[in-house]
Amino acid sequence: MYRKLILYSVLFIFMLYVKCENKEAPINDKESSTENNESPTKSGFMQLAKDLKFYTKSDQKDSTSSRYNMTDADGDMSDPRRSCIMCNNVAIEECNDPRNKLITSMMCERDDDLCYSLHTPFGIVDRGCFNINHNLTTYVCSCNLCNYISISEMPFMFAKKGDWVGNVIELSRTKHFRKSIFKDMSCLRCEVNTTTRTGDMLDSANCLEGNIGNLPVEDCNVDEICGVKALRADGYIWRGCLKMPLYNYWWTVCDNDLCNYDKRVSLHDFII
Ligand SMILES: *[C@@H]1O[C@H](CO)[C@@H](O)[C@H](O)[C@H]1NC(C)=O
Ligand SMILES: *[C@@H]1O[C@H](CO)[C@@H](O)[C@H](O)[C@H]1NC(C)=O
Ligand SMILES: *[C@@H]1O[C@H](CO)[C@@H](O)[C@H](O)[C@H]1NC(C)=O
Repeated sequence: MYRKLILYSVLFIFMLYVKCENKEAPINDKESSTENNESPTKSGFMQLAKDLKFYTKSDQKDSTSSRYNMTDADGDMSDPRRSCIMCNNVAIEECNDPRNKLITSMMCERDDDLCYSLHTPFGIVDRGCFNINHNLTTYVCSCNLCNYISISEMPFMFAKKGDWVGNVIELSRTKHFRKSIFKDMSCLRCEVNTTTRTGDMLDSANCLEGNIGNLPVEDCNVDEICGVKALRADGYIWRGCLKMPLYNYWWTVCDNDLCNYDKRVSLHDFII
């Protein structure tokens, strides 16, 4: 009897405090209008402030800090390819706000490459060329079987900074909550590379689309969360448990030469 009562209260707490999100609305979904007024809670921020201490260091270690050569941006005027600012703020401080600064740029490989800035929650920024179809991208989530996002919705980009901040806080909160009560997390597990054309077509389709009922499930280690990695040009998708990254990134892309100079974003700016 007592056990049952305890179980109920645990479930109740779970439902109260873990708003487990599923898919966020992608950027091309015009209906997505969760305004910034669903502001992240104070306890969320407090938890996150603790996280920040832990991860700021490893975050910086992860970033490549290789030196880049100065490459000439203005070459052949008929070249349809983009030139993009290329830097990260671990190597070069000016990368935080590169507008009107003398900074390295690069000529992109493909005609349809865009310029990007990628921001981590802890203030690391990375800039360069990006191709929606040819770059491998990752999306993570932290509820059971939440990694069902379809390949057509990848790469996943948050439409609003507020949505991204909320997502980071939510991931942090569920992660800590899971540690204290639920040890196990389960995620969809499959991998398909359509260009190699191996395996069953139906299995492949299920994996590409993320059909929950038709995919194998994997139990994760305590320090893992669910993730999806995708490369659209290859029809490549991978689903399973991931150690890294623990958070999603804030991405911006733009389609002009040297347009990727948006200022560094950090969750510190949201925590007052
Ligand atoms: C920079 O340029 C030099 C000389 O062209 C070359 O040897 C070197 O490999 C380049 N480094 C990088 C990081 O591209
Ligand atoms: C995208 O792919 C290109 C070419 O492989 C690479 O140079 C670039 O760094 C990648 N960008 C990201 C954000 O991974
Ligand atoms: C998919 O398969 C092709 C052909 O074997 C290979 O070249 C490509 O690297 C694979 N893509 C990924 C993301 O593994």
